[in-house]
Amino acid sequence: MKLADNKATLSFSNGSPSIDLPVYQGSVGPDVIDIRKLYGQTGMFTYDPGFLSTASCQSAITYIDGDKGELLYRGYPIEQLATQCNYMDTCHLLLKGELPNEQQSKDFNKLIINHTMVNEQMQFFLRGFRRDAHPMAVLTGLVGALSAFYHDSTDITNAEHRDIAAIRLIAKMPTLVAMAYKYGIGQPYVYPRNDLSYAGNFLRMMFAVPCEDYKVNPVLERALDRIFILHADHEQNASTSTVRLCGSSGTNPFAAIAAGVACLWGPAHGGANEACLNMLEDLQRQGGLPKVGEFMEQVKDKNSGVKLMGFGHRVYKNYDPRAKLMQETCNEVLAELGLENDPLFKLAKAVEKIALEDDYFVQRKLYPNVDFYSGIVQRAIGIPVNLFTGIFSLARTVGWIAQLNEMISDTEYKIGRPRQLFTGSVARNVQPIGKR
Ligand code: ACO
Repeated sequence: MKLADNKATLSFSNGSPSIDLPVYQGSVGPDVIDIRKLYGQTGMFTYDPGFLSTASCQSAITYIDGDKGELLYRGYPIEQLATQCNYMDTCHLLLKGELPNEQQSKDFNKLIINHTMVNEQMQFFLRGFRRDAHPMAVLTGLVGALSAFYHDSTDITNAEHRDIAAIRLIAKMPTLVAMAYKYGIGQPYVYPRNDLSYAGNFLRMMFAVPCEDYKVNPVLERALDRIFILHADHEQNASTSTVRLCGSSGTNPFAAIAAGVACLWGPAHGGANEACLNMLEDLQRQGGLPKVGEFMEQVKDKNSGVKLMGFGHRVYKNYDPRAKLMQETCNEVLAELGLENDPLFKLAKAVEKIALEDDYFVQRKLYPNVDFYSGIVQRAIGIPVNLFTGIFSLARTVGWIAQLNEMISDTEYKIGRPRQLFTGSVARNVQPIGKR
């Protein structure tokens, strides 16, 4: 963070003296006005619900230029990472700041693989859930419960604990997601296999059964790996900010990541992939392609309460670069599985085409986001709709833990404690019950 040459001057129309506020520059992106001393100097807070103009931290991990539709992990464009690297290398990059060389890549892979099993007791914990529980409810519980199993990595102030927790979380998330799925459908859990890739092992834990051999399909393996890369981090989004805020109290890393899982579940965030596929399936049931126009009219009608799920983004005011890559993967997976004529994919493309040409969407700069196509890919792979957000949380875990560890190592970090504009009743006296 570099102090800029210029300052911001805040003046007041009521004659109060104006004040100068320092301005900082990042390496790229908008400058920030430092308002930390504002309250001390003026007795006023700033008001910014939803953080529309507020940088909550400094970070060197992920950069988004929403107007250009650009996403960089540690400076590398997402397009290059998705086509030239795998998810494990991306995790190394996010956590450690650099892409691994050949030896580092092997070592990192081995380290993750050595932690893929979960404590056997986890099965009994899982058994406490109803079989029809939503996987995100189960995952919130399971991830939080890791802190009860791994006492040697719960001290957030200890750098070694933070490193071990990061490796454990990345390694165990696929195992937990697959266990949540198998539990729901009443099949036996499949233990991890360390000779498979991260994505290949996950596919096997999801879809293998003890009575048959399971062969990993390389196209699906690569598609899943890409889904993981595309979802690995996305700077200070709602769930990442939740992880940072939760971790800022000094709580253990597993608890902080569980908070991230809980936040991701919502339909305005990670739950959008599930909501988007449900929307497409609904539209298909209502008549499919001929009904698209009518549906889009409902979307544009504010009174209908209908939103085009998988469209729009707080930061991207241009095509989400991840949506383009996901559309490519969608083509590959559907071709591999002989599903080129998948009606939902056709429907999604028709909806997108109308939206990109319609004034409502053009004026508001609404474009498809990553979730618009990810559901179609996942459904084709055989992943049930209610597990989509679980897959997202698996992939985002590395981003959460990288951001959490970055925050703890930042000398400027403090417990997160927003202020408020109070609009409730001023102080008053409790009246006896008969007089209320
Ligand atoms: N369908 C229809 N209209 C929309 C949509 C949409 N998907 N998204 C935004 N708009 C409209 C809003 O109604 C608003 O219109 P107005 O100016 O006439 O009132 C305008 O576009 C701006 O939208 P906001 O809601 O103010 O934008 P915000 O940045 O707060 O919301 C969000 C972003 C939550 C992602 C929103 O676009 C949305 O709900 N999209 C659908 C859900 C979704 O796909 N979420 C996934 C996000 S990506 C992720 O988390 C992986």
